[in-house]
Amino acid sequence: MQTRWIRRLAGITGLVAVVSLAHAAESAIPAATASDIIKQDIAFLQKGLAKEPQRKQLPGLKATAIMVAGLAQEQMTGPNTAKMAALRDQALKVADLLAAKDYAKAKDAAKALDTPPASTATAKVEVHKHAKFDISEAMAPYRSSRSGGMDMERNIRSQSKSASDLTLIKDIAGHSVILGEFTKHLPTGQAAVNAARKKKWEDYSDEMIKHSKEILAEASKASPDKAALKKKLVVLDTSCTNCHNEFRD
Ligand code: HEC
Repeated sequence: MQTRWIRRLAGITGLVAVVSLAHAAESAIPAATASDIIKQDIAFLQKGLAKEPQRKQLPGLKATAIMVAGLAQEQMTGPNTAKMAALRDQALKVADLLAAKDYAKAKDAAKALDTPPASTATAKVEVHKHAKFDISEAMAPYRSSRSGGMDMERNIRSQSKSASDLTLIKDIAGHSVILGEFTKHLPTGQAAVNAARKKKWEDYSDEMIKHSKEILAEASKASPDKAALKKKLVVLDTSCTNCHNEFRD
C-alpha cells in the first residue's frame, strides 16, 4: 500500500528518486573498503574451515559468512549487481552448511567464494534471517582471535588511543555498520519482552551504526583528522557498553 502511494506521489514530484538516493548515500560502504573487508573475511572463512573447526570458532565463522553476504548485498548496485548477488548467495550457502554442521561441504563452499556460481536472484534478502543466526554469533567477530573472533573490540579500544592504522579503522567501522544492522534485528529475550524494551535495543543499535558510519566517513577522507577519529572510536565503544550494561547477562 505504502509503496503504491509513494509511487503515485512520485509520478508528480519525483519523490522516489530523492528517497532512494538518500537511502543509498546513507547505507553505502565505500566500494574499496567493502572489497577489502570481503577479501579478508573470505580468507578468515577459508582458513577457519581448512580443517574441522573447533567449537569456539563456530559463532565467528557463521557471523563472517553472514557478514560477507551482507556486504555483498550492500554492493549490489549497477554493473556489480550480478557478481555481488552470486557472492551473497554463496556466502549464505556457507552459513547454511555451518548451521547444518556439515564442515566438509562448508569448506568447499568457502573455497568457491573466490569464484561463486552465477546467480540470477538479484532481489534483496534479509541475510540475518538465514542459518539460525543469533545475537551471540553476531557479536562473535568482536571477540579475541583466541576465542574465534577477529579482535575487533580490542582493536576499537587500541585505535581509540592511537588512530595509527587507518585501514584497520575502516575495516572495523565497515564491519560494524553491517553488524549493527544485524544486531538491530536480533534482540535477545530481554529486549523482546515489550515494545519499549525493543525500542531501546533498536536505539542502541542505531547508535552503533551511526558512529560506525561517522568513523568510516572520517577515515575515508584524503587526510583524516586523527584526533576526531580517536574521539569517535571512544564514542563507538561507549555505545557498545551502553547496550551491554542494559542487555547482556
Ligand atoms: C543493541 C545491543 C548491543 C550493542 C549495540 C552491542 N552489543 Fe555486544 N553484545 C550484546 C549482547 C546481548 C551480547 C551477549 C550475547 C550472548 O547472548 O552471548 C553481546 C556480546 C558481546 C561480546 C561477546 C562477549 C562474550 O561473551 O565473549 C562482545 C565481545 C561484544 N558484544 C562486543 C561489542 C562491541 C565491540 C560492540 C560495539 C561496536 C557491541 N558489542 C555492541 C548486545 C549489544
